[in-house]
Amino acid sequence: MLIRNGNIILKSKVISGDLRVKHGVIVEMGPDLLKAPGEEVLDAAGRYIAPGGIDAHTHLDMPCGDITTADGFRCGSLAAIAGGTTTVLEYAECAEGETLQQGLANWHRKAVGKSFCDYGFHMTVSAWTEDTPAQMAAAAAAGVTSFKTYTAYQKDIGVDDYALFRIMREAARLGALVCVHCENDGLLRALSEDLEARKGEVSAHPDSRPNLVEAEAVSRAADIGMLAGSAVYIVHISTKEGAEAVRRARDRGQTIFGETCPHYLLLDRSRYDLPGFEGAKYVMSPPLRTPEDQHALWEALRNGGLQTVSTDHCAFRFADQKTLGREDFRKIPNGIPSVEHRMELLYTYGPAQGMTLPQIAAVTAWNPARIFGLSHRKGQIAPGYDADLVLLDPDAPHVLSAAAQMQAVDYTPYEGMQVRAKVETVLLRGQVLMENGRLTAETPMGQYLIREPFHQETREE
Ligand code: URP
Ligand code: ZN
Repeated sequence: MLIRNGNIILKSKVISGDLRVKHGVIVEMGPDLLKAPGEEVLDAAGRYIAPGGIDAHTHLDMPCGDITTADGFRCGSLAAIAGGTTTVLEYAECAEGETLQQGLANWHRKAVGKSFCDYGFHMTVSAWTEDTPAQMAAAAAAGVTSFKTYTAYQKDIGVDDYALFRIMREAARLGALVCVHCENDGLLRALSEDLEARKGEVSAHPDSRPNLVEAEAVSRAADIGMLAGSAVYIVHISTKEGAEAVRRARDRGQTIFGETCPHYLLLDRSRYDLPGFEGAKYVMSPPLRTPEDQHALWEALRNGGLQTVSTDHCAFRFADQKTLGREDFRKIPNGIPSVEHRMELLYTYGPAQGMTLPQIAAVTAWNPARIFGLSHRKGQIAPGYDADLVLLDPDAPHVLSAAAQMQAVDYTPYEGMQVRAKVETVLLRGQVLMENGRLTAETPMGQYLIREPFHQETREE
């Protein structure tokens, strides 16, 4: 296939030109490539050609108490493709008493034959036992080169500082990095208890988790990572202070990366004051913050203080799942849908916030690829790379709405939001899965990605 006349977003510049794709891989790039006999031609005039999105943080088919997230791999990956994301890195978890291998096998079962996009797994480690090093080693050997820990939820899947240090040191030995959900468990439990009298109010949720609950945990995770000699990736940073803590750790030479999400960039905590129970649509942890925090997060993306924008896609239906917390904000299932909208949001609002197109491509594709061991084949447009490509119309204003989405959930937090950039055509390893806004994918062709170990030189770029 020859893709002609596009504005191709490269790592450091945008060029106009053509791309040739053969056997699922980009083989040639340049101006005025000649059409070979029998070659299919795709016209990309007036379109950006962006690297297929890599969403490094999703929860699909994830149990949460007695319920399960609304999107499984089939719907979630179709939604990803519809939104220009060609790879997801999903958080696999163990049920109580399971080994990491059992948890991983379970997540493979959920995904295999169902995923329309390529996928890899991070593995959550929720305890340190005698057997944990061997289980982590087996996971890393199977291509799971990142582990997840929670500093929150200590009574459930969270780990204390002792376990975090041990897990980090083991990860460093294995060439893996450790992703950390940073909220101080003791503080948020105490503050939640203190809000008993307001338990019927959604607006108590952000009050139970002020900025310092996140920032303290980010600083501590960074310090523990420094002592353990481990590469650290802080997930879903929502605050100015959290981003500053990552920046301080990077400035002292530490290998640490920070992720934020579209909702922290584009929505603020006023959503929790919406009438009735409407604010529950925006309940995730950490919560939405202030415009000042949003400003700081955009600034950190522009100046390299944060490296990725992933979604933390974790969809619960409003009608029958979010309502479990109608009487008590602490019981509202945490999480929101957004895998489908990340790329259009970033390619619309990123330029308005002073980000260049290569910077947007970096935070949505290249940086997740290089941090998570996929930089040998994914995340950029260059000969030899998988032909995971997104043709975006930069000037096709439309409104996001649940009525038009693939996500199997009855709302979107971005309802009514205007976006200009429109994902039109999506290729995964050279196969057209969406063309001119119409999904053409029929059978799930997503492949499991065995990821490479973490390389220290990754920090430098
Ligand atoms: O509220 C959230 N973020 N739900 C998803 C699970 C997690 O903590 O990342
Ligand atoms: Zn998450």
